[in-house]
Amino acid sequence: MKTLIICDSKHRGNTRKIADVMAEALGATIVGSDKVQAGDLGQYDLVGFGSGIYMGKHDQNLLSLVDKLPFGSGKKVFLFSSSLKGLVQMDKNHKALKDKLRAKDYDVIGNFSCLGSATFGPLKWLGGINKNHPDAEELDLARMFAEGVGSGL
Ligand SMILES: Cc1cc2nc3c(=O)[nH]c(=O)nc-3n(C[C@H](O)[C@H](O)[C@H](O)COP(=O)(O)O)c2cc1C
Repeated sequence: MKTLIICDSKHRGNTRKIADVMAEALGATIVGSDKVQAGDLGQYDLVGFGSGIYMGKHDQNLLSLVDKLPFGSGKKVFLFSSSLKGLVQMDKNHKALKDKLRAKDYDVIGNFSCLGSATFGPLKWLGGINKNHPDAEELDLARMFAEGVGSGL
């Protein structure tokens, strides 16, 4: 099974930590959305899309990439993220990317999210929040999630 993970992690590298453990579990290649050409996904059996959540959505570059992709013909994909609220707001935070992918006939087979540290805006002066997240337990969950989506093929 050939897997590609497309990950943008621009704030603190939190989502990249998740991508790293998922890639290890799946034997996947990780790339930033700026390195993906529209036709690249054809050679992969499974594609993961992940980023931090910014203003309630995945990274705008990831969303824009999906606009450029060809129709998926049922290609299996999974979504992941890190955010201030993690799993609690996953459905809401993943909706924009999920809807775009589904509209292009990609089959979203799984979603993963966990807490991510943040130091933007006034949080910087407070020393940040969600310090040390994702933590070891969350990365273990990410690994198990990846094994699950990988074995579902
Ligand atoms: C500009 C900005 C906007 C953010 N907006 C949200 C948001 O709307 N909801 C949320 O839960 N987290 C929000 N966050 C927190 C990030 O999702 C969180 O820090 C995430 O772990 C960052 O991932 P990254 O290090 O991979 O970029 C925001 C962070 C930044 C810098």
